[in-house]
Amino acid sequence: MSIVKTNLSDRMQAVFDMVRPCDTAADIGCDHGFVSIALARSGVAKRVIACDVNKGPLKTAGENIARAGFSDRIETRLGDGLHKIAPGDKVDSIVIAGMGGALMTRILSEGEEIVKNAMQLVLQPQSELFLVRQYVRNIVFHIEKEVFLMDAGKYYWVMDVRPGKGEYPEGEVLEVYDEFSGYLIENRDPLLSEYIEKSINIYEGYLKDMPEDKQGAVRQKTKKLKLAKELMTRR
Ligand SMILES: C[S@@+](CC[C@H](N)C(=O)[O-])C[C@H]1O[C@@H](n2cnc3c(N)ncnc32)[C@H](O)[C@@H]1O
Repeated sequence: MSIVKTNLSDRMQAVFDMVRPCDTAADIGCDHGFVSIALARSGVAKRVIACDVNKGPLKTAGENIARAGFSDRIETRLGDGLHKIAPGDKVDSIVIAGMGGALMTRILSEGEEIVKNAMQLVLQPQSELFLVRQYVRNIVFHIEKEVFLMDAGKYYWVMDVRPGKGEYPEGEVLEVYDEFSGYLIENRDPLLSEYIEKSINIYEGYLKDMPEDKQGAVRQKTKKLKLAKELMTRR
């Protein structure tokens, strides 16, 4: 893991910090290209392939990369997900940050040949994190480490995913691990404790003003949060 300080936001810095030194990294949904540039500048990746499905962001990335002087080590490619990455690119690390979990899971499953040959995935889903954690388990990868942080008033999870089987609980506990992070629960992450406590208060507040017949989903969520809290305080 790198300890290079950049001028990235705290969220992007956490994504960058997760990337292990490698020959080739792919930054999927690179947008401005800031993470790609940090990877090249720090030497964490010798070469970066920066992909985006939209022309506008890719053009901006290309301009930022040229201005930073890394056009020889960062290649931009226009395309959906991992479709523009070939096995011959020998991508070691795949970075996907700032997208919803359903889109991320779709990108990973459509590019599974590339994914399964990578030594690391660095994933920062913005929503539906359980889908990403389930996907990781299904392809027999595991979450080596996870970081939970707050940046500009929002919470973010960043996952360091590696090949190989993980160990998992069953039933409701697995559901809670998938939703809030088994790694962070087992490591009693203080920020996650705070988040869970706050969320319980928020959801219990909703229940007070909600008609009984509409309470199902909120009750379910509160139950999961309370189980997460119990797991984090269990001796
Ligand atoms: C919110 S930005 C996140 C940018 C950057 N990864 C970050 O974390 O700051 C999402 C980017 O993903 C791109 N994107 C959305 N769907 C994509 C897809 N299917 N394949 C590649 N890029 C995609 C968007 O064009 C946009 O530039």
